[in-house]
Amino acid sequence: MTQRIVLITGGSEGMGLAAAETFLAMGDQVVITGRNQEKMDKVSSRYSNIHTITSDISNRNDRTKLFAEIKKVFGHIDIFFANAGLGRFKPFTEISEDDFDFIVDVNYKGLFFSLQAALELMPDRSRIIVNASWTHHRALEGASLYSSTKAAAGYLVKALAHELSDRKINVNAISPGLINTAQFNEEMIGEKASNNHKMRIPAARFGEPQDIAGVVAFLASDQASYINGQEIIIDGGLTSVH
Ligand SMILES: NC(=O)c1ccc[n+]([C@@H]2O[C@H](COP(=O)([O-])OP(=O)(O)OC[C@H]3O[C@@H](n4cnc5c(N)ncnc54)[C@H](OP(=O)(O)O)[C@@H]3O)[C@@H](O)[C@H]2O)c1
Repeated sequence: MTQRIVLITGGSEGMGLAAAETFLAMGDQVVITGRNQEKMDKVSSRYSNIHTITSDISNRNDRTKLFAEIKKVFGHIDIFFANAGLGRFKPFTEISEDDFDFIVDVNYKGLFFSLQAALELMPDRSRIIVNASWTHHRALEGASLYSSTKAAAGYLVKALAHELSDRKINVNAISPGLINTAQFNEEMIGEKASNNHKMRIPAARFGEPQDIAGVVAFLASDQASYINGQEIIIDGGLTSVH
């Protein structure tokens, strides 16, 4: 079997890194991106066989360099986990144009154009998995900006599943619930808020990055060849009862 080339944007920690470790354990060649050089160096020193490329998904030049390097070193991409994303949570009336540009540039524009560039390197029957979020399925306080970018990502998945059907490229989203990572975790929000959340999660706990990584690996596998244009919510049951 030839080694699969897996690109994970935002792979230096959290769900991206957990997915990188999972693909690595399956014998795949993993390429990760992230903005912060120190975080990339930390991954490199732990996993000498993960190829790291320091790159900001919201920066056009970085995207150009990223895909040029992948083309030069690996020639193609078999699996693209479009994972990089972040949030700024504020009341709608307090969101500035700078907030808007910052979040949209990463979560939507960066996603949009990195998918477009990646597709130039993706052969027929390759796979795309986009990291969206449970949040766009519920009206949540302070989440209008973040969640609307994730809703856009969710739509993109459907549109691309349709447009890429002639290339047999499956495009799916995963939508994590409350997952303990650097950008959002129980410690950050405090015990009281964390317990309030847990009371509404049938699994009675926050998720861990590994809860997500297995589903990403599954969507990239032959077993998932008939799953296309879907959004899989991985939230311990939160959206079923929230
Ligand atoms: N945690 C949750 O509860 C939750 C729930 C639903 C959805 N999500 C989504 O899950 C995805 C992964 O988040 P996470 O929670 O695993 O976060 P995380 O642990 O903070 O990791 C985020 C990763 O993305 C990278 N990153 C951030 N901005 C980037 C940019 N502009 N260009 C390239 N890389 C960038 C970070 O590295 P650098 O900082 O070095 O760039 C890091 O490697 C995001 O799309 C997020 O919206 C999270």
